Amino acid sequence: MKKRVSILISGRGSNMAAILQAARDPAYPAAISCVIANRPDAKGLETARAEGVPAILIDHKNFASRESFEDEVHGALIAHGTDIVALAGFMRVLTPHFITRWDGRLLNIHPSLLPSYRGLHTHERALEDGVKLHGCTVHFVVPELDAGPIIAQGAVTVRPDDTPDSLAARVLAVENALYPRVVGAMAAGRIALRDGQAIINGPTSEASLVSLA
Ligand code: GAR
Repeated sequence: MKKRVSILISGRGSNMAAILQAARDPAYPAAISCVIANRPDAKGLETARAEGVPAILIDHKNFASRESFEDEVHGALIAHGTDIVALAGFMRVLTPHFITRWDGRLLNIHPSLLPSYRGLHTHERALEDGVKLHGCTVHFVVPELDAGPIIAQGAVTVRPDDTPDSLAARVLAVENALYPRVVGAMAAGRIALRDGQAIINGPTSEASLVSLA
């Protein structure tokens, strides 16, 4: 039986779409159980529906507390038989109330080479610092924001004429290539969280992706 992956989004959903696309291949180790968005204007909801994937809106504004919102999300994940949760541009901070329930089964993709540039505006900050390499990171989620054990990273070179938008676009292309690979390896049981470290069994080709573009 394939592991069932649910994807949490807040907006455009290009990483979600890349995972859905990968899951069309019968050989892909994960089945997509549902997509959940916390914002009514999340474009990715339409994309998921068009792909025939259950797409659920749980608007956080309708809940009195973070925990009650998280309970609703958790219930929907369980109702769809979720094994693994992938955050893909999900811009709502999750509390330990939710994170501990999905310990070792909750992934995030972040647009920087962590531990550099946790938080927001990562591309602007990388350009301000003049770094020559920038990229993205897939990691296990822990209560501390953007601080969980690193599973995989993708890098791009920074160009002298880059703007935050041009750099974001090249990083996003690497994100869209990397995240489906990592989710697939996770679903295949080749990635685990052990003693606070991300362990990859077998070939480690999912762990890095470099684009010199
Ligand atoms: C991606 O760049 C992702 O890394 C970032 O939001 C974007 C979502 O794009 N995530 C974060 O900043 C999480 N803190 P997408 O909706 O097209 O996948």
